[in-house]
Amino acid sequence: MSPVFESEAVGLTYPDGTEALRNTNVSVASGEFVSIVGPSGCGKSTLLRIASGLIAPTCGSTNRTGTVQFVFQDSTLLPWRSVRRNVSLNLELQKAGKSETEKRTNSALELVGLLDSAEKLPRQLSGGMKMRTSLARSLVCEPDLYLFDEPFAALDEFSRERLNVELLAMLSTRNAASLFVTHSIAEAVFLSHRVLVMSPRPGTIVQEFVIPFGPDRQQDLRYSPEFARLSGEIAQSLRELIAL
Ligand SMILES: Nc1ncnc2c1ncn2[C@@H]1O[C@H](COP(=O)(O)OP(=O)(O)OP(=O)(O)O)[C@@H](O)[C@H]1O
Ligand SMILES: [Mg+2]
Repeated sequence: MSPVFESEAVGLTYPDGTEALRNTNVSVASGEFVSIVGPSGCGKSTLLRIASGLIAPTCGSTNRTGTVQFVFQDSTLLPWRSVRRNVSLNLELQKAGKSETEKRTNSALELVGLLDSAEKLPRQLSGGMKMRTSLARSLVCEPDLYLFDEPFAALDEFSRERLNVELLAMLSTRNAASLFVTHSIAEAVFLSHRVLVMSPRPGTIVQEFVIPFGPDRQQDLRYSPEFARLSGEIAQSLRELIAL
């Protein structure tokens, strides 16, 4: 299948001379979920910024087809808008029709389980609910490529695990490609078709792990021997990189 995003021998040096990425090759196809793990400061967010088109690489080439949505850790909801009106914001900006906006907003709210809380303001929500609102806001747009930059990092472990399952359920109704940056190896293994390990700066992909689990992944998968084995191998790979 042809990739939605592909980078070939991409390098990026910031104007102050910091070389963030070197010779980075990544590709992600429709319906595919690819995670990136690596030490802090190795260039993961930089790579997502390049994939989004926010910044251009200083060498190498990239190719992206279709639309893109960035999902950040900080949910950045507008405090004066209700959950529903935060979720519908992008459609309003795109000047989608009223009934279209209502239909897509309701279906996104239903997917993340927030229909009952749709009239609440962000300050009336828990951290997990804020994150789900932010996800729903991205979901209404139905992009071809999702870029996730540690979206669940601020949540407690149980909320995070639950949102992992919900995210997979949501994505199973789409054919979008996802690039997902996380510091949690378990999260990467649980969600992904492939996990890419990045070296310390200047970041480059040094190892790829294919995750063989099928599409219907439930919490008990985390306790399987195969899950533990893969997580252990990825942890070991990271440990060796950091020890270099
Ligand atoms: N605008 C910028 N100008 C100069 N250097 C930058 C800029 N943005 C990031 N960097 C540097 O580039 C390197 C990679 O940063 P990046 O944010 O991509 O890392 P990261 O892998 O996302 O780290 P973390 O896991 O901590 O989020 C770091 O050394 C950082 O200091
Ligand atoms: Mg980052």
